[in-house]
Amino acid sequence: MKWTTFLFLALTPLTCALLRFQCSQLVVQRLDPLVEPGLIPSSHVHQIVGGNSFNATMDPKKDMPGESTCTTCSMAEDFSNYWTAVLYFRARNGTYKRVPQLSQITGGVGGITVYYMSDALYDTAQKSKVTAFKPGFRMFIGDVTAKTKADAERFRQLTYTCMQNSGTRAPESLSLPNTTCPYGIMANVRFPTCWDGVNLDSPDHMAHMSYPSSGTFESQGPCPATHPVRMPQVLFEVVWDTSKFNNKAEWPTDGSQPFAWSFGDATGYANHADYVFGWKGDALQKLMDTPCVVNCPTAKTQGNAAMNKCTQKAVVDENIDGWLPSLPGGHQAYYS
Ligand SMILES: *[C@@H]1O[C@H](CO)[C@@H](O)[C@H](O)[C@H]1NC(C)=O
Ligand SMILES: *[C@@H]1O[C@H](CO)[C@@H](O)[C@H](O)[C@H]1NC(C)=O
Ligand SMILES: *[C@@H]1O[C@H](CO)[C@@H](O)[C@H](O)[C@H]1NC(C)=O
Repeated sequence: MKWTTFLFLALTPLTCALLRFQCSQLVVQRLDPLVEPGLIPSSHVHQIVGGNSFNATMDPKKDMPGESTCTTCSMAEDFSNYWTAVLYFRARNGTYKRVPQLSQITGGVGGITVYYMSDALYDTAQKSKVTAFKPGFRMFIGDVTAKTKADAERFRQLTYTCMQNSGTRAPESLSLPNTTCPYGIMANVRFPTCWDGVNLDSPDHMAHMSYPSSGTFESQGPCPATHPVRMPQVLFEVVWDTSKFNNKAEWPTDGSQPFAWSFGDATGYANHADYVFGWKGDALQKLMDTPCVVNCPTAKTQGNAAMNKCTQKAVVDENIDGWLPSLPGGHQAYYS
C-alpha cells in the first residue's frame, strides 16, 4: 500500500474501516505457542507483541482478554498476540548481532504496526462486510523452509520494502533487499482473508484460511466456495532498523546481503508470521462495522506509557544479543 493512499483517504468521505495501530514489544525469546506449543525453548527467536498472557502453551479455549492484565497495543481491548521471527546481521567474522526494530511510539521499544481492514479501500458502498475472528482463532502464514522465489510466490502478500525514509511503501520485493536501506527494512505480512467458517485452526495453521479465488482482498477478489467467509485483512508492518549495519565495508565480499532471519534464511523468501486472536467480546466486529479510517473514534485506546509498561520477562534464559557465534538454537545463515 502506498503512503499516498492514506493521504487520499484522509481527505475522502469513507464508509470502510481501516484500523491501523501500534503495538510495542512484549518480549523477545524462543517461544512459539502456535507451531511448537509447549516447547521451551522453541526452535528460533521471535519478537512478540500484544496481551501479556502469551505463553509456551496457549489453549484455544483460554479466555485471552480475561487472562491478560495488559496489552502492548494501543487498542486497549486487543489482547491478541502477534509475532514474527527476528532479523540478525552477520558480520564478516561470522558472528551475529540482533537487528533492533524501529519503534513507532515515543519511549517504545521495538514493536510493530498492525492493520485490520474491513473492506477494499475504495468500496464506499461496503458491498461485502467482514466477519471478525472468533475466540480461539489462530493462523500462520509463510513457509520457514522456503528458499526460492517460486517457494515465496505461493504466498500472495509477504514482502520487504527497502525504506529510504519513514514514508517509503514501494517497491516491495519477495527477497531481502541487496542494497543498504537508510531507514531500515520493512517486512510486510498480509494474512489470507477467507475462512472455512468452521475451524479455528488447522494442522498446518493455514488450511482453514484461503486467499480470495482471484485477486486480493484489496481488489475485492471473491472468496472460494471452500472458504466462503470474508475476514478482515490483517497486516503486520515490522521495520528492522538496519542503520547501524549499513557500512558496506562490513558486508559480505561476494555481493550478497548480510541479514538473516533467526532460523537462518538469508534469502528472505521464508518470511512468515503468527496470529492468535484475542480481542475482548465483539470489540473487533464493532470496529469493523464502523466507518472509520486509521484513528477510529469509537475505539477504546490507551496511551504510550501504558503500552510500554506492559512487558513480559523471558522464560527462556539465553543470550540473544551480543555478537553470537551462531543464531540462538544453533542455526547458521544460509543463502540458498
Ligand atoms: C505460563 O504457563 C505456566 C504454566 O502453566 C504458568 O505457571 C505461568 O503463570 C504462565 N505465564 C503467564 C504469563 O501466563
Ligand atoms: C566480529 O565482528 C564484529 C563486527 O565488526 C565485531 O564487533 C566483533 O567484535 C567481532 N568478533 C570477533 C570475535 O572478532
Ligand atoms: C538480491 O539478489 C539475489 C541474488 O542475486 C536475487 O535473487 C534477488 O532477487 C535480489 N533481491 C532484490 C530485492 O533485488
